[in-house]
Amino acid sequence: MAQDVSSVDPSSLARAAHALMQGDLVAFPTETVYGLGADAANPVAVQGIYAAKGRPSNHPVIVHIASPGDMAAWCSHIPEQAWRLAQAFWPGPLTLILKRSQDVDPAVSGGQSTIGVRCPAHPVAQALLSAFADLKRQAGQTRAGVAAPSANRFGRVSPTRAQHVRDEFADLVVNGLQVLEGGNSEVGIESSIVDLSSVDEGGSVAMLRPGAISAQDVAKVLGQPIAGYQASSPRVSGSLKAHYAPSTPVTLCSPENLSHAVSNALAKHQGRLAVVTHGAGLAFDDDRVVVLPMPDSPADYARVLYARLRELDELAVVAAFVVAVPEEPVWAGVRDRLQRAAAAFGGDGVD
Ligand code: TXA
Ligand code: MG
Repeated sequence: MAQDVSSVDPSSLARAAHALMQGDLVAFPTETVYGLGADAANPVAVQGIYAAKGRPSNHPVIVHIASPGDMAAWCSHIPEQAWRLAQAFWPGPLTLILKRSQDVDPAVSGGQSTIGVRCPAHPVAQALLSAFADLKRQAGQTRAGVAAPSANRFGRVSPTRAQHVRDEFADLVVNGLQVLEGGNSEVGIESSIVDLSSVDEGGSVAMLRPGAISAQDVAKVLGQPIAGYQASSPRVSGSLKAHYAPSTPVTLCSPENLSHAVSNALAKHQGRLAVVTHGAGLAFDDDRVVVLPMPDSPADYARVLYARLRELDELAVVAAFVVAVPEEPVWAGVRDRLQRAAAAFGGDGVD
């Protein structure tokens, strides 16, 4: 379960908010994954995130805000659909892509004319964003937002626990990076990203990255169809084909092909293999096969997915076979992340 904000030492929160004001980075929990944050109005601080992650500077980052009303400070124009989605899903696991205000430094959106904004629900994120907004107001600045990508090195698995962040950025922690504790991220995969930046010119509403909030959920609120996301879109780093990948080679298998694929791999490799599977328990009569069971519901599966992918690396197996999840819309977020984890090794389809 996510930790309550009361379990975070108030002085840690205050220290983190001050660090952001000074242009330092702070890692913090959200309900989706942990973020690596910087003052979104400070281009030098934002540059620090790109450097820490090893991320190309043309990949935009999401600006996290304390309350939906703060969206206006970052955007030149907010279509009514954005307010409706904010009302339905914020605070929560949804990012809106809108037109960037001319006054906002382009660095935060990788030079693009649009900007991603999200109001997260995790109580520690909320407390940090509010404390930071208070400090900004005291300093006479109206634009308060924390730019934060997921707190992992570029292309790797996103962190869903504070320990994952400390492992990933051990060097920065030694040099004083503060990592706020927030328990296990409840959603477990990154926010759904909905692009509304061209709706006022007659453009479509598009799902750029599926997550816990589905295209169907968005369509229901807006009363209009949503364009499916395009995996080839270069604008979203999470939509690069290979992403969210552990070091262990991952192959996606249909349930029917699993035992065949595992037998072949056992014949080919000396070491141990992992099978990651949901649904009915599977037994393999070879003790070189480690079975990692997954929950049956998409929400529960998403919550533990990244911890499982990290575990694969710790198990030191030579390869992992993941049983593909159903084609249904409720599985879109999980399916997307599994396909990307497999794509890193050339196995970009269902085996
Ligand atoms: O759940 C999340 O969204 C987490 C937590 C920390 O909030 N953040 C996250 O950030 O996943 P990141 O940077 O790892 O992924 C954000 C995605 C990127 O793929 C980025 O390209 C896309 O959002 N994005 C941000 N601003 C955008 C923009 N203006 N246009 C298109 N895509 C944008
Ligand atoms: Mg990321």
